[in-house]
Amino acid sequence: MKTVLIHGQNHKGSTYNIGRMIANKITSDDEIVEFFLPKDLNHFCVGCYKCIDNPETCPFYQEKNKIMKEVESAEILIFTTPTYCMRSSAPMKSFIDLTFNYWMSHRPRKCMFSKKAIVVSTAAGTGAKSAVKDVTTALFYWGIPYILSYGISVQAMNWNGVKEKIKQKIEKDTSKIAKKVLSKKNVKVGIKTKVMFMMMRMMQKANFGSGEADKKYWEDKDWLGKNRPWK
Ligand SMILES: Cc1cc2nc3c(=O)[nH]c(=O)nc-3n(C[C@H](O)[C@H](O)[C@H](O)COP(=O)(O)O)c2cc1C
Repeated sequence: MKTVLIHGQNHKGSTYNIGRMIANKITSDDEIVEFFLPKDLNHFCVGCYKCIDNPETCPFYQEKNKIMKEVESAEILIFTTPTYCMRSSAPMKSFIDLTFNYWMSHRPRKCMFSKKAIVVSTAAGTGAKSAVKDVTTALFYWGIPYILSYGISVQAMNWNGVKEKIKQKIEKDTSKIAKKVLSKKNVKVGIKTKVMFMMMRMMQKANFGSGEADKKYWEDKDWLGKNRPWK
């Protein structure tokens, strides 16, 4: 089961270890692909909107596409981000910005509507929930119908500092998450995603979208007609 991990940090601390723990409980090493941010995508969106006209003209297309090709072919996605100032890390936020053309408001990918995702964040104290939310919001707008969140206060600055009792809890929690994900066989698109998709469809139909290129994308998929990205 191909699993892609996107880490919102280069280092292998608590957040990385928890993400990896889940991945290892889901699948084997040879099915795991990992990306580290900013190492694998060291850019901020420059707001040029080139991705709206033609995604390949984004100044960072090559690096971005390397990651997104793997994301698109994965069955399960795992995102990890330490909680920084109550939110996701800056590299994770930058990744979200750089993939905004994948949102339902622009050019969602059909493959997203059948994926499963897990979002992990650790904080020393508080904020992990809002950090996780930064990512789950983006994944919802990508069209991913099944998203699990795991935000935890590890009361430490790094993995070595995490007390044994908390590690035991993490061990149990990650087993539960892996079991839940594996037992979810048929991922169905929920009402919230369907409503959002229909609103975006109406927007494209009424020419309130970002322009001709996005509208053509929707037309080519026949999403303005009877077709839908889910079964
Ligand atoms: C820049 C920065 C900002 C942080 N902001 C918060 C925060 O808002 N709330 C919190 O509880 N911990 C905060 N922390 C602590 C980390 O979230 C926490 O130690 C986390 O478990 C680190 O994960 P890591 O081991 O994967 O790097 C912050 C740490 C750094 C370096």
